[in-house]
Amino acid sequence: MTGTSPADSHPDGSTCVVYDAGQLIVGPAAGPDDSRAIDRESDDGPLEIREDAAFAAIDGEVVAVGSSDEITREYPPENAETAIDAAGNAVVPGFVDPHTHAVFAGDRSDEFAAKLRGKSYQEILAEGGGILRTVRATRNASDADLRANLRAHLDVMLASGTTTVEVKSGYGLDVETELRLLETIDRVADGHPIDVVPTFMGAHAVPEGREADEYVGRVVGEQVPAVADQEIAEFCDVFCEADVFDVAQSRRVLEAGAAAGLTPKVHAEEFTRLGGSQLAADLGAASADHLLHATEEDAAALAAADVVPVLLPATAFGLGEAYADARTFLEAGAPVALATDFNPNCHARTMEFVQTLATVEMGLTPAEALRGATHDASLAIDRDDGTGTLREGAPADAVVLEAPSFVHLAYRFDSSAVDTVIKTGVEVGP
Ligand code: NIG
Ligand code: FE
Repeated sequence: MTGTSPADSHPDGSTCVVYDAGQLIVGPAAGPDDSRAIDRESDDGPLEIREDAAFAAIDGEVVAVGSSDEITREYPPENAETAIDAAGNAVVPGFVDPHTHAVFAGDRSDEFAAKLRGKSYQEILAEGGGILRTVRATRNASDADLRANLRAHLDVMLASGTTTVEVKSGYGLDVETELRLLETIDRVADGHPIDVVPTFMGAHAVPEGREADEYVGRVVGEQVPAVADQEIAEFCDVFCEADVFDVAQSRRVLEAGAAAGLTPKVHAEEFTRLGGSQLAADLGAASADHLLHATEEDAAALAAADVVPVLLPATAFGLGEAYADARTFLEAGAPVALATDFNPNCHARTMEFVQTLATVEMGLTPAEALRGATHDASLAIDRDDGTGTLREGAPADAVVLEAPSFVHLAYRFDSSAVDTVIKTGVEVGP
């Protein structure tokens, strides 16, 4: 056991003990550097795994990790406000979903049907469907509806083990609605157990009736200052894509965002290889996301600049496109983060489904997928407080499985393997 703070030295602290874990996934395996140069051939792969283990938390923060005997002696479950007997099952860090577009209104299931008949995503967008259609529905929705929609999605995510999620604006495309979306995120986050990380994405599409250059002027001149003024977003993202925003336009948006205190993120090389990865590297972005068409050179640029590649296998699945080449990024020495990309074009809200796709379709090991859904995902949203691990000092965000091994997260693809969700030391789900 490595803890130093027995419960009786914190008489006011609310204690949580999770014990008798057959497997406790603590975090990434120690390497020369925390996020890279891992021995991926070892049995546990890139994860540190303890058997017959437990952890204790006080006031929502992990204070001790060790053998179940030691931890329960030091922190008796009968004295803890939250005591969870894992009964020999696996316990993993809460999932971190670092890329979603979860605040919107309307339904696009008919576009799914059109895509199945062979229509492409870009054709739908060019006809005023896709993102532009969701923008119309979102502008027309009431605040109450937007909040209820987002809350319902967060409920599904939490029940499936996601304890931290990034949510982007981007279905407003005017200053008033973009702010309304960020306010919705703020309000809903306030009353929900999930930690929500807000991203401003006014440059998600060119609104109907405008030219890209002129619209970028509005994003930079009106939206970024308003968002910064309200201190209502942490990141600024852009859809760097052919027929959307080119590299120069994307750079203008992200530089304006950075000057206003918003850390850059980039939707890069999703449908075409346009240069979003190199831009992300130049600007020191937190992440470059999608990367279906990224090359070895792009992977090397991201790794050298410490930009986290975020792969979104559910998007490729839904679009029927070839998956991103996860191995290229790992071989370049980068971490690989995973996310749902939940949006009306990719109706995937669970990181369990993402881990299934990441293993079966992208060739990651179950351990690499879990690491990508936890610790490495936290790097993509600049969390350095231990989020995505169960190490001492980390937020006590954990998922108890109804299975003996974390492999069930990827292996079980028709239903959830989640038994109990814990957020900052409190049982919150399912
Ligand atoms: O990440 N690629 C751009 N944005 C979303 C799709 C949004 C939509 O189609 O509504 C994405 O896949
Ligand atoms: Fe996206």
